[in-house]
Amino acid sequence: MPRTIIAGNWKMYKTQAEAVEFLHEFLPSLDITPETRQVLLCVPFTDLLCLSKNLHGSRVQLGAQNVHWQDQGAFTGEISAPMLTEIGVRYVVIGHSERRQYFGETDTTVNQRLKAAQAHGLTPILCVGESKAQRDAGETETHIMSQLEIGLQGIDQTNLVIAYEPIWAIGTGDTCADTEANRVISMIRSQLTNPEVTIQYGGSVNPQNIDQIMAQPEINGALVGGASLQASSFARIVNYE
Ligand code: G3P
Repeated sequence: MPRTIIAGNWKMYKTQAEAVEFLHEFLPSLDITPETRQVLLCVPFTDLLCLSKNLHGSRVQLGAQNVHWQDQGAFTGEISAPMLTEIGVRYVVIGHSERRQYFGETDTTVNQRLKAAQAHGLTPILCVGESKAQRDAGETETHIMSQLEIGLQGIDQTNLVIAYEPIWAIGTGDTCADTEANRVISMIRSQLTNPEVTIQYGGSVNPQNIDQIMAQPEINGALVGGASLQASSFARIVNYE
């Protein structure tokens, strides 16, 4: 069985002080009975070190939101995998649609970043998903298959998480119907060589819809944006039935 992983993606939100305040409320509210359920916080680079110290000894692991493909070099503004692992980061989100849309991320650079992450023992969370226009044109499957084909070239599927995030569902409150998300995720799984890969759903996940989403047989977790910013709301999501 794939592992269940519920991850918060804070995007560009929270100073260190705000992050610590979040943890003070969030950690005592955790009630994750199943030992196999993994919880992650993927936070801005500036919050990582502080959270690494504050999460020590808890069930919550730490993720970054991007990583460069070189270990070091003249790459102003970038952060490398050894810099992340040194401070206790275990996961990294790669190829989020916001990186693809605003920062020129391509399937090729996504592939390079995935390789660098794995080479240093980080578990990458590869984000894929279609736009509204692609969905309306009936191109959901072909688009995602192409993202996977290029993105996963030479990638070890034993240390990999995939997040299916339909772009039209991100931050809109317009969640993908759980049965449709299940269908697309099943299609994604059929493209993989390892059936044990955890595949999450992301896009307007909230405390009201998490139970239904997680009841779908192919969905192994969630990547949560807006609803992960408030401790009580993310705790409810993580503690889903
Ligand atoms: O990576 C999570 C994400 O893009 C979904 O954001 O705010 O719709 O939960 P949100």
